[in-house]
Amino acid sequence: MNITIHPGNWEELEIDALAIPMSVNQPPDDVLDGRVEGLLTELIEREEWSGKLGACTLVHRVADTSVKRLFLLGLGEDPMPRHWFAAAGQAVREAAEAQCRTVAILLPENADVRLIAEGAVYGSHRPSGYTEQKPWGVEEVVLLSSADIAEADRGRLTGGGINLARELVEIPANDLGPEEFAMRAAQEGNAAGLEVEVLDEQALLEMGAGALLAVGQGSERPPRLVRLSWEPEEPNSNDHLFLVGKGITFDTGGLSLKPANSMEKMKYDMGGAATMLGAITAIGRLRPGLRVTCLLAMAENMPSGKATRPGDIITALNGKTIEVINTDAEGRLVLADALTYATRLGASHIVDAATLTGAVTIALGNVRVALLGNDKNLSDSIALHGRDCGERFWPLPMDPEYLDAMKGDMSDLRNASAERSAGTITAGKFLEQFVDETPWAHLDIAGTCWVGKAQPHCGKGASGVAVRTLVRLAENWNSQS
Ligand code: BES
Ligand code: MN
Ligand code: ZN
Repeated sequence: MNITIHPGNWEELEIDALAIPMSVNQPPDDVLDGRVEGLLTELIEREEWSGKLGACTLVHRVADTSVKRLFLLGLGEDPMPRHWFAAAGQAVREAAEAQCRTVAILLPENADVRLIAEGAVYGSHRPSGYTEQKPWGVEEVVLLSSADIAEADRGRLTGGGINLARELVEIPANDLGPEEFAMRAAQEGNAAGLEVEVLDEQALLEMGAGALLAVGQGSERPPRLVRLSWEPEEPNSNDHLFLVGKGITFDTGGLSLKPANSMEKMKYDMGGAATMLGAITAIGRLRPGLRVTCLLAMAENMPSGKATRPGDIITALNGKTIEVINTDAEGRLVLADALTYATRLGASHIVDAATLTGAVTIALGNVRVALLGNDKNLSDSIALHGRDCGERFWPLPMDPEYLDAMKGDMSDLRNASAERSAGTITAGKFLEQFVDETPWAHLDIAGTCWVGKAQPHCGKGASGVAVRTLVRLAENWNSQS
């Protein structure tokens, strides 16, 4: 699907569909209203069109133009970046549903064309491969704006990263184990101009990544640690940002087995790694002046005769011992070694993303990503970039007392608290033990990585959350952050 920009009059274009995002109480465009003989005014007067968020009203044919369908898309009362992003996605989905080949989106003067292009690409995502699908009709999206095409291109590249993350999250675990995931990551990394290294179980053993290995040892499919690095020709600072992702390709809980209904969706437990892979491949194509390295910790958490038992004490890469209280608290274990590796490779800043705790859904539902860490500048910067592109984060506290629950009796640490309280925070405090003093932020996306109910711009499936924020963080990096 192509994205182009057209600064002039939409009436002169050969387009099948025209999408018009409109907010509540926004008067209709005069020219357009004239073209449809005052129908827009009439729709508003008859209260058939209100501009309500996510609403879509279809008008057939616009006289004397090529437009066969006109979509009015509701932006709600007070349109924010996420509403524009969603409207662009919805425009593409509605156009595809109506078998249109080209769709133009009418935009105001000050529109964020990059974000809108991201939304349009987002709308073009389809679940792949497992059912027969109608052929995809939308070939071209025309953004009616006088912005620079470079803006739309940046959006297209970022959108590609988001959809890569979504595609991978949606692949079932029978087709995506650690090895398949690592191979795909390497392939995508090479294609994006990144340096790629894949550590297999032998390399992990030699290195001493005992926590990652302990999680993977119950599975027939051995763990992997993948490194993907973007090295600019002329770095604009000495900083080196690391993006670390939890890549559990399936989480049964291990011997602390999950009940069936909690296990059903656990193919998406590699969502953090998919997010980081989506971000780093977009970064490779956008070529910012900052050094960025991505580390993906991949394992399958299975019960078996070889599996780690509750009560086992393991030694992580940094030498700390951990009693495995609950084999279902595996994400923090694989991340522990990846975070240690990041500090060893010279990270100046680390951000990790993980579907880490069910507790984050209790705290924040499916709306906001939990943001934890040890550095206010870095956290604030993530939240601000999120606000610019319509992704929502919410900080959680990290007082030292929360660590008490994670201290071991016979080991340095335990991987699970005896109580369920503050589960997202205690998990964050555990991770903090593996970053030394490096400025670090942790994104718990367990509640936001999967969309359980279809929305106008997004079907049921992976959300791709946090990719566009992280890409912006790398692009607009300033060394204080
Ligand atoms: N992958 C899960 C967290 C999760 C839950 C992700 C629901 C998405 C939806 C994680 O590995 C896990 O099982 N966490 C446990 C930790 C507990 C045993 C301390 C949890 O949240 O119950
Ligand atoms: Mn688990
Ligand atoms: Zn998990």
